[in-house]
Amino acid sequence: MSKTSKFITMAFVILAFALGIFASTFLRTGNGPQVPAEPEEAKGIVNIYTARHYGVEQVFEAFTEETGIAVRFTTGSDAILRERIKAEGKFTPADVYLAVDAGNLWLAAEEGLLSAVESAVLTGNIPENMRDPKNQWFGLTKRVRTILYHPDRVSPEELSTYEALADAQWLGRLAMRPATHAYTQSLVASMIAAHGEARAKEVVQGWVANKPTLIDSDTRILETLAAGGADVAIANHYYLGRLLEANPAFPVRVFWANQDERGAHVNISGGGVTTHSPNRENAIRLLEWLASPQGQKLFADSNHEFPTNPAVLPHPIIAEFGSFVADPINMGEFGRLQADAIKLLDEAGYR
Ligand SMILES: [Fe+2]
Repeated sequence: MSKTSKFITMAFVILAFALGIFASTFLRTGNGPQVPAEPEEAKGIVNIYTARHYGVEQVFEAFTEETGIAVRFTTGSDAILRERIKAEGKFTPADVYLAVDAGNLWLAAEEGLLSAVESAVLTGNIPENMRDPKNQWFGLTKRVRTILYHPDRVSPEELSTYEALADAQWLGRLAMRPATHAYTQSLVASMIAAHGEARAKEVVQGWVANKPTLIDSDTRILETLAAGGADVAIANHYYLGRLLEANPAFPVRVFWANQDERGAHVNISGGGVTTHSPNRENAIRLLEWLASPQGQKLFADSNHEFPTNPAVLPHPIIAEFGSFVADPINMGEFGRLQADAIKLLDEAGYR
């Protein structure tokens, strides 16, 4: 971002925040004078900045019903919400940051925007590689970025690894997400962690040489597969779950990648409590509830994701995809290696 556009973004955030305070501090009663409203922290409302937006209303409503704690949420992309929390500083109304990529959670923690939460419920329910070693963020649902294919044009015997999609047999047959998207960056970060930069770059150069169709929507990627515009794609599994729910005959299949080696690339949606949370206690209760069997079931199923809590079963449509071996990497690595991944993608000519 240029200095000018950074300044404009900051100014916009500050103005929006000032208007927000004004709007939430006063209630208008009939035509009478404005009276100060009870501040939100006194009411214990949990404010969430969430990049995960599919089906969250019903989940937060269930939390409110069970605990009596009201929830407000604002949606946006991982990066924009992170910038907003940073710009708002100690005046942020955000109690919880929910992101859809571990790399962005790692970056938020690195920038001092999240605080450590010592909770036996969170550390007990969420596997170690899906949470921050310093307890500043916790994975709540798993999304597998794997290989998908059209069964009339590809047989699963032809598929094996992300790396093998660099082979010349896939020339003109691939659909992938652009380099600008965090999903692509985290996948490449996981390859850097597995092989080192030189080998990871060779793979990405191989993908580029196969002239993939780059589409900035996993749903459209899968629709392109179905329509014959590509034969094989890399996408998140839940987009297929969603399309299959709407049409059980949707002609795309899942192939779990890299099963004979490190396993398929799994990312998380997850969250942390902000450093300046006005309602820290209730924010922790929300995260703990989302990690509980009831919260996990609702949160994961609302987007056809896998629960991170291993005691909770996935949605039946997703269960039909079968079990798989997952790359056991600590997902914080996607953040630590994000800048390297972006540079590598650029140098390899992947746009
Ligand atoms: Fe997504």
